[in-house]
Amino acid sequence: MERTILREAVKKTGEPILVRGFVDNIRNGKSMAFIVLKDLSGRLQITVEKEKFPALLETLDAITPDSVITCEGTVFPNEFVKLNGFEMIPAEGESIRIDSLAEALPIVRKEIPATKKKAALERSNIDQRIDYRWIDLRTDENQLVFKAQTALAAALREFLLARDFLEIHSPKLIGAASESGADVFEVKYFDRNAYLAQSPQFYKQMAMAAGFERIFEVGPVFRAEKSYTSRHTTEFTGFDLEFSYIESVKDVMKMEEELLTYALGKVAEKYGEEIEALFGKKVVVPTLPFPVVKLHDLYDELEKNYGYILPESEKNDLTTEAEQLSYRWVMEKYGHEFLFVTDFGPEKRAFYHMRDENGIPMGYDLIWRGVEITTGAQREHRYEPLKAQADEKGLGEDVKFYLDFFRYGCPPHGGFGLGLDRLTMLLFGLGIKESMFIFRGPNRLNP
Ligand code: 4AD
Ligand code: MG
Repeated sequence: MERTILREAVKKTGEPILVRGFVDNIRNGKSMAFIVLKDLSGRLQITVEKEKFPALLETLDAITPDSVITCEGTVFPNEFVKLNGFEMIPAEGESIRIDSLAEALPIVRKEIPATKKKAALERSNIDQRIDYRWIDLRTDENQLVFKAQTALAAALREFLLARDFLEIHSPKLIGAASESGADVFEVKYFDRNAYLAQSPQFYKQMAMAAGFERIFEVGPVFRAEKSYTSRHTTEFTGFDLEFSYIESVKDVMKMEEELLTYALGKVAEKYGEEIEALFGKKVVVPTLPFPVVKLHDLYDELEKNYGYILPESEKNDLTTEAEQLSYRWVMEKYGHEFLFVTDFGPEKRAFYHMRDENGIPMGYDLIWRGVEITTGAQREHRYEPLKAQADEKGLGEDVKFYLDFFRYGCPPHGGFGLGLDRLTMLLFGLGIKESMFIFRGPNRLNP
């Protein structure tokens, strides 16, 4: 018999079906046994009146929580069943089969409150849970994180495909550092060294020189940063895009705000209620346009409103505290969760950002709920100024192959890099470890 997923099972009352999943809970009493079965789509109670099913007794005694079982039977409505008011009654004979028996679980996924007989069990911390991430991921909460991330990434793609973007797949093994030279992982590459890509930046721009006009890429990004924060990882998924024939960086910002508004709309529609129920976080679909502020003006506002004072010499970049405070400010002033910050100092920005007549990079950071999710810019597409800016940062020979992209014709263009893991984490109000399939950090290479 073909498997019926549990969400569909309750629609097939009265007919013989076959269901499969993890044992979410089992109560094996003297005369009755109750199994709560869970699959990705939902839960169903299997009720066994033991007297009537002698062939199942041995199996029922063997089943442990989190074992994977298959059950053939029939679903009936029963108003006394707390779980949705339905239960499955097994078929005659050996209708419950254990596909995989689970050992006692090595982690506590969720806090277990005290009962009369047992003391409370504290939840394992996130590092212990990551050691057994596949077990941790079985909870409704964790599965929702990845359902929503799937919907989010699908919506981002959908938006871009509808606007004629091509999807590219650029190499991650590269001969020269792609962003700055710092924070790059070196790997052995036969008899020489290679590096893991810190960004698809150079290849996105090569695509512009190739006349691809509009491209995006979703792929791994590697950063050899020894950061132990709730928003840094050494390997994350970048959602990058680049497009040609822009008039200014404003076109890039407009593309991004429309893209995010569309994608969050899709997530809210599909999972908004569940996210609010399980995480207490409302998915707010932003209004257009997003607020914009110059970095210097932001510092003035933070000082005026919250007494945040920073030495003048440090005001060419956004500090972590200012980033966090900017959320409070943008909410109070605009009732908005997003904030574009522009006009960073040239010393703090990548050499490939185009600069205005005052030498200010024409780029931005986008902050959502107080955390940077994007850096974007119009790029310098003219060979001579680009080379001068690379030389100024001391990059010279390393980026020669990249500079060549701009010698044989290249349209004006811009783009941005969006951290997918950061988006997921902020959507749910989690740390980055909780929101990645498997986190990678300075002390974490397993599982
Ligand atoms: O700001 P970043 O470094 O910008 C670039 O990579 C440029 N090439 C983008 C461009 O087109 N100008 O990285 C882009 C985004 C960040 O805003 C952040 O969301 C995410 O990638 N990110 C990280 N996420 C998790 N852990 C880290 N260590 C991250 N570093 C950057
Ligand atoms: Mg950045």
